[in-house]
Amino acid sequence: MMKFLLLFALLSYGFEGSSENVSSPQRVAVVGSGYVGLVLGAGLAEMGHSVICLDIDEKKIESLREGVMPIYEPGLHELVVNNLRAKRLSFSTEIDAAIRSSDVIFIAVGTPTGAQGETDTSYVESVVKTIGQNANGYKVVCSKSTVPIGTGKKIATQLKDCGDFDYVSNPEFLREGSAVSDFFTPSRTVIGVESERAKKIMEALYEPLSSQPVFFTDIVSAETIKYASNSFLAVKISFINEVANLCDVTGADVRDVAIGMGLDDRIGSKFLNPGPGFGGSCFPKDTLAFLQTAKEFEVDLKMTEAAIAANKTQKLRMIKKARNLLGESLEGQNIALLGLAFKANTDDVRYSPAIEIIRALIESGASVKAYDPEAMKNMKILFPSEIEYCKTLKEAVVGADLTILLTDWDEFREMDLTVLRDQVRQPLILDARNCLDYDELNRLGFVVENVGRPNVR
Ligand code: UGA
Repeated sequence: MMKFLLLFALLSYGFEGSSENVSSPQRVAVVGSGYVGLVLGAGLAEMGHSVICLDIDEKKIESLREGVMPIYEPGLHELVVNNLRAKRLSFSTEIDAAIRSSDVIFIAVGTPTGAQGETDTSYVESVVKTIGQNANGYKVVCSKSTVPIGTGKKIATQLKDCGDFDYVSNPEFLREGSAVSDFFTPSRTVIGVESERAKKIMEALYEPLSSQPVFFTDIVSAETIKYASNSFLAVKISFINEVANLCDVTGADVRDVAIGMGLDDRIGSKFLNPGPGFGGSCFPKDTLAFLQTAKEFEVDLKMTEAAIAANKTQKLRMIKKARNLLGESLEGQNIALLGLAFKANTDDVRYSPAIEIIRALIESGASVKAYDPEAMKNMKILFPSEIEYCKTLKEAVVGADLTILLTDWDEFREMDLTVLRDQVRQPLILDARNCLDYDELNRLGFVVENVGRPNVR
């Protein structure tokens, strides 16, 4: 399926491996072999470029050479292995040598949130320093890492002082769980570039994707597009979550409300699914960083601020809903938690709503059994022994007083509700993703809480 998708993408975007003025394929180094760097590196290799993915973690590089992925991302394994075999993709820890032998260097290292809520750009700074030390002729240095607005200008100046470099900002819009298909069919490619020479190189690099919008702008605007896009989507989610909370009491069905709103193409139907709050490595971090930057320029971003506050409340609302079903005290109650990842099709638990929900459940004295198809290993790092991890969905729900569905994995959407009814102690369910069959749940005698969806019409 994925093979077909890639082939389709390359054919339909007319990949010919050439551009008028710049030689292609190009020699590319990607510094940072995490989720962003890996998908980018393997995707560029699939387009025909010669790519070295780099990392300081020797173990990770060793595993990648053997085709073992450090993350769960549908389609990534096949993409990496195929390009390793075709010798267009390689992995290395030799950053200096790779920089010297490349035409385009991507920075794809993390920019985590620091202790005071600020964006920690130290990994980016260290990569820039290394690039500067390895100046040996003209190169384009392109940031995929999300850096605070204004950082690119400073990096560009720093690099110019070291050698013949042009800096480009090329923000990341891939979604975890569908990153590979997003790579080959992007909604747009945004390139912040301020030199004609670098622009031509970026045009040639992304030529296979040129039937999709490729938007050239300046560096600071590209940086702003990234933060504004993620913050806008966060606002959209918090908005529909609040509408769902209203639907909870008025009896309206938020799914119909979302459909009715989304039919207006000025609004659009995407990202109108209410749930337990947004999580992941991007929205929580980027909304905070957007606020922080605005504060530095003495500008208020009240909408973004409100989206963050509403999201915090939304996670805790799930506990209130659990109490609606079980009564005020959760002490000694058995909770089956289905889903730990921040969304389906990923093993990522960063800022997952499950984290705060688990914390609140434990503090209330509940006993938690959890199951997730991919994310248990990562959640174990945060809660090694406070909750019980189960090998199967069925094992998690045995004897449950309340079942909470937090992530909309297909396995949960499609679960046999009769089997669920047979295993649980009490037929109480909190469907935090509005994804179950309520006729069937009602028939089986379940009492249901959800997010803005009436149980019985
Ligand atoms: C997000 C953006 O969608 C990508 O475009 C961007 O590249 C990426 O951040 C990034 O900055 O690197 P991602 O965090 O992988 O991607 O996941 P999303 O699919 O955007 O979901 C984020 C959160 O919002 C999840 O917790 C999800 O469950 C929640 N969500 C999403 C909803 O609650 N309702 C929706 O309708 C959509």
